[in-house]
Amino acid sequence: MKRFPGKRVIITGAGSGFGRALALEFASKGWKIGVADINSQRASETVDMVNQKGGQGLEIMCDVTDITQLEDTAALLKDKWGGVDIVVNNAGVAGAGYMEKIPMDQWDWIIGLNLKSVIHGCRAFIPMLEDQGHGHIVNMASNAGIACLPEMASYNVTKAAVIALSETLKSELAAKNIGVTVICPTFFKTNLMDQFNSTDERQRLMAEKFFSSARTTAEKVAQATMKAINKNRLYVVTPWDGKLVWGLKRFCPEIWYKMVAFGYSRFGKALDLQP
Ligand SMILES: NC(=O)c1ccc[n+]([C@@H]2O[C@H](COP(=O)([O-])OP(=O)(O)OC[C@H]3O[C@@H](n4cnc5c(N)ncnc54)[C@H](O)[C@@H]3O)[C@@H](O)[C@H]2O)c1
Repeated sequence: MKRFPGKRVIITGAGSGFGRALALEFASKGWKIGVADINSQRASETVDMVNQKGGQGLEIMCDVTDITQLEDTAALLKDKWGGVDIVVNNAGVAGAGYMEKIPMDQWDWIIGLNLKSVIHGCRAFIPMLEDQGHGHIVNMASNAGIACLPEMASYNVTKAAVIALSETLKSELAAKNIGVTVICPTFFKTNLMDQFNSTDERQRLMAEKFFSSARTTAEKVAQATMKAINKNRLYVVTPWDGKLVWGLKRFCPEIWYKMVAFGYSRFGKALDLQP
């Protein structure tokens, strides 16, 4: 982390889950952390935890669906800290549903929260990072944006778009000494189900099942993210099963989708969970 002597990071959605776990990683290294969230109670809990762990937390009320609130956040950090070294566009939600049933307002909701929020964060902070001559952007995607499993069209689309945006920025910003990392974890247990939106109860039950059998934790994903930022690596794909899916999708996509289609038609019914 020697590239960032100012030790200043802003994390959206830091009131809970991954955002909080990452804030605590930075806190243990003595960083200043902008804890941005719409939930003030959770944000202030994170700030207390950050301060206890050796960091300096700053609570920021910010709705990532509103670009002006991210621009105001950038101006606030310029004023208070003279800038920021790392921007983590993490806040997001989850949703599922059959393509033909997902209401258009659910598309608007999830695109606003998972994709436009990341666009807002990049737009608001890149000019500051360029002026400073250094910085790093971390965007939260998901393994869902790689695997593109059935009944998750809206979520998959937003996360695949975040991967594409991050890949674009990696080369666009390299000459400006701005690094980019995109995080693509599989399921891990957080409060993500609080705002879950689906067309059928079946999908909620499936999601709950996936979360309860998660193979990783927010803390492990946060540690992998710290390593990737340190080495200026583009991808965090974790844990091992996520890497396996990534490899299959990249090197034999036709086989991957045949496998998914076969598994879904053969065993999809087995996932017909009853409430
Ligand atoms: N948990 C998983 O299995 C998993 C897997 C892959 C990717 N992700 C992604 O990780 C990110 C964080 O999710 P999490 O699992 O930690 O969930 P979480 O619900 O525990 O945390 C999300 C935080 O974002 C905040 N938030 C929600 N809407 C906001 C808004 N409009 N403006 C600002 N903050 C807002 C919430 O208040 C909450 O504190 C999301 O983008 C999610 O899609 C999660």
